[in-house]
Amino acid sequence: MAAEEPIVTIDGPSGAGKSTISRMMAARLHFTYLDTGAMYRAVGLAVERHSIDLADSAALKGCLDAIRLELLPNAHDDVRVFLNGEDVSAAIRTPAMAMVASRVSANPLVREKLTELQRAIGQHGGIVAEGRDMGTVVFPAAPYKFYLDASPAERARRRCEQLRQKGQEADYQEILDQIVKRDYDDSKRALAPLKPAADAVIIDSSAMDPEAVVAFMLRHMGKA
Ligand code: DC
Repeated sequence: MAAEEPIVTIDGPSGAGKSTISRMMAARLHFTYLDTGAMYRAVGLAVERHSIDLADSAALKGCLDAIRLELLPNAHDDVRVFLNGEDVSAAIRTPAMAMVASRVSANPLVREKLTELQRAIGQHGGIVAEGRDMGTVVFPAAPYKFYLDASPAERARRRCEQLRQKGQEADYQEILDQIVKRDYDDSKRALAPLKPAADAVIIDSSAMDPEAVVAFMLRHMGKA
C-alpha cells in the first residue's frame, strides 16, 4: 500500500500571502487545499443571517448543527464555498465578513465544530492546510509547518490590490487599521491564538514574491 501523503500547514496573519502560497503549494504537490479561514467566514455569515447571539450557547449550537459546509477547489479562483447548498464564495470575502469571522472564531463551540471538520478532511493526509492554528492545534503532528508573515504595511497593500482586482472598493488606511485590529484579536484570544508552532519554519515574505516563497518551502520539504 502506498504511504500516506503528509500534511503541510501554513499559518500566519491576514494578508501575509497564505492563500496564494497555499494554493500554489497544493497545485505543485497535487494535494488538496484546505482554506480554514473560509470555513470561519461561512460560519460568521450563518451566525449573522440568523442574528445569533454568541452568548446564547443553545441558539449557537442549533445554528452550528444545521450548518452544512462544502469547499470545492476551483482552478482559477479561490475555493468555492457552499453553505447549506448556497454558493456564498463572494459574500464571505468582504472586509466586513473578515471581522465577523474573527469575532466568531474566538468562540469555543465554533472552534470545536470546525476543528473536528478540518481533522476529518485531513485524516488521510495530502493536504495543504491554511489558517491560524493549523500547526499548533488542528494538526500538531504535521511534518511540515510554515508560518508566513509580512509587515502590516505590505499586507495592507496586498489586500487592497486583491480587493481592487475583484472590483471591490479598498481604502488603504481602513484596510491597514482592520488588519492590525484583527491580528491583535486573533493573537490575543484564549483559544487557539495566532502564533507560530514551536517547530514551524517562519518566513517573512515582505520582500519575496510568491514563487520565491513556494520554492523555499518545496526545498525545505526536499521536493525541489
Ligand atoms: O484567513 P481569513 O482572513 O479568511 O480568516 C478569517 C478569520 O477567521 C481570521 O481573522 C481568524 C479566523 N480563523 C481562525 O481563527 N482560525 C483559522 N484556522 C482560520 C481563520
